[in-house]
Amino acid sequence: MLYPNIRKQDPEIAGHLDQELKRQRDGLVMIPSENFASPSVLEAAGTVLTNKYAEGYPEKRYYTGNEFIDKIEQLAIDRAKKLFSAEHANVQPHSGSGANMECYAAVLKPGDTILGMDLAHGGHLTHGHPVNFSGQTYKFINYGVQKETERIDMDQVREIALKEKPKVLLSGATAYPRIIDFDAFASIAKEIGAYAMADISHIVGLCLSGDHPNPVPSHDIVMTTTTKTLRGPRSAIILSKIEDRINPDDKKNLAKKIDSQVFPGMQGGPLEHIIAAKAVAFEEALKPEFKEYQNQIARNAKQLAETLSENGLRLVSGGTDNHLILIDLTETGIGGKDGANALEESGIYTNFNMIPFDTRKPFNPSGIRLGTPALTSRRMKEKEMKTIGNWIATVLKDINNEELKAKTKQEVLDLTHSFPLYEEL
Ligand SMILES: Cc1ncc(COP(=O)(O)O)c(C=O)c1O
Repeated sequence: MLYPNIRKQDPEIAGHLDQELKRQRDGLVMIPSENFASPSVLEAAGTVLTNKYAEGYPEKRYYTGNEFIDKIEQLAIDRAKKLFSAEHANVQPHSGSGANMECYAAVLKPGDTILGMDLAHGGHLTHGHPVNFSGQTYKFINYGVQKETERIDMDQVREIALKEKPKVLLSGATAYPRIIDFDAFASIAKEIGAYAMADISHIVGLCLSGDHPNPVPSHDIVMTTTTKTLRGPRSAIILSKIEDRINPDDKKNLAKKIDSQVFPGMQGGPLEHIIAAKAVAFEEALKPEFKEYQNQIARNAKQLAETLSENGLRLVSGGTDNHLILIDLTETGIGGKDGANALEESGIYTNFNMIPFDTRKPFNPSGIRLGTPALTSRRMKEKEMKTIGNWIATVLKDINNEELKAKTKQEVLDLTHSFPLYEEL
């Protein structure tokens, strides 16, 4: 039986946990930042390590009793370094937003300039939104996508970089369906004497499998969440070079600057149970099957994009090279929120999103963002993507048809039941 102790002691929470597991099993999780961590990752996240305070780093703690904690954190570090071919890894950041804060603070002072992707074109909140710490602390300037191609134009990035001379050139996005030319970013950063930083939170798995380039060798700092294509726990890590290429004479090298911004700069005691879960996820990602899994994520996204297009839906940039797709609903006359809600009523979970040059407001923008990592974890393939793509297109063209949504929900249920989730739980 699942959660026997919670069930006895706190039936209210146990009931909600049961319902959430059922929701994840019964529906189609297509939010591209979500995935199903393996049972081993879930187990590690629920261990007694949650009881331990371990401020500091392995062998350099401010508390006693870290004999085994140190071994676990060191394994997480060693596995992360091996996985990404990184010189240095900090596995303590609690989340992606915190990790970005720590990276910026390691190499910048408040008011310094960062050149990053326009949020309206696919950048993340922590890449300079005015309501976020990033936009409030640093001076962000943006590059975007070209209007005709809806892709990043590296000539434009270089032009802005040469003019504005940012201290950090930031690549990475939260809603960009195409390959990012990390080598070109690194070479522009070198040309202008800026730190090259990449936030690969979304595409991390594809960078590891070779579907996309891995920015770690060419970049000073690479940050990633461990949740999305990586299938780890809700958390993040920072990878970096050891030496500070831009300020080699500083007392601290780059690795030390990052470590001291994570702790004691921004965080206190690390979440060692989550670090153990990250270590387990890294071990899984080091296995050959992980590469095949990532290849399938990309193949599934391509098939899904093709089916949606065949059904007359316009996709931003015309398709996808990664795990996610942005549907532009402008021609259907509905908003992204209306579309995403209708899909939810049909058992399909996506999220509404701005598209480049959006004319609508963020609370009901023109786009729907959806992706394939979680469905691929359930072992769905191109055949299922065709079926699902047809369902999505049919619902989006008739969002007020209650009968259609109920029928689709039943079809979704039939499909998900033939791709069992967490049978071992
Ligand atoms: C590109 C990117 N960076 C950072 C983050 C922030 O991660 P978190 O939600 O863990 O704070 C996200 C989250 O979706 C993201 O997509």
